[in-house]
Amino acid sequence: MKSIKISVPAIFFIALCLLFLVFSFSIYLKPYSISTFQKNEFELAGKGRLVWQKYNCQACHQLYGLGGYLGPDLTNEFRKLNKNEDALRAFFKGGMKQMPQFNLSKEEEIQLIEFLKSTDATGNADPRKYKILSNGMTEQYEK
Ligand code: HEC
Repeated sequence: MKSIKISVPAIFFIALCLLFLVFSFSIYLKPYSISTFQKNEFELAGKGRLVWQKYNCQACHQLYGLGGYLGPDLTNEFRKLNKNEDALRAFFKGGMKQMPQFNLSKEEEIQLIEFLKSTDATGNADPRKYKILSNGMTEQYEK
């Protein structure tokens, strides 16, 4: 009987095929999933956006540079307040100068804060902090 000779490249090829199958299979066994904790956060942030719309914060504030210009851009407000949720709450509750006082429910507060956290997490988005270069690219004025 003739013995089957397998060349070295063929062994590599077969090994890679096997690894590919094992890897693919392992992905199907444990699909990419977000943890329930993250999922809750996303849901809260989504509801927070509705609170934002309900109280028309956009009339005076901008997100990503768009909105009313009476108050400051709030995209990165969470970071600006050193990630202090209580400071945000104080602004909602107390108001100041032209910023009206909002009597948000506890739930709405939590959702709105989660929403502002999520906008902050998208990066630094105030276009006034960028200058447009002649080649169409942007450069940040300040951090
Ligand atoms: C009638 C216009 C108006 C509306 C509506 C409004 N704000 Fe304001 N807001 C202001 C103004 C003006 C300031 C700045 C006050 C100051 O600096 O004296 C401010 C300040 C803030 C600040 C503090 C910003 C900082 O760092 O100084 C936060 C946070 C804030 N607003 C959140 C909200 C949220 C959330 C809503 C919606 C629920 C909202 N605002 C609706 C006018 C408004």
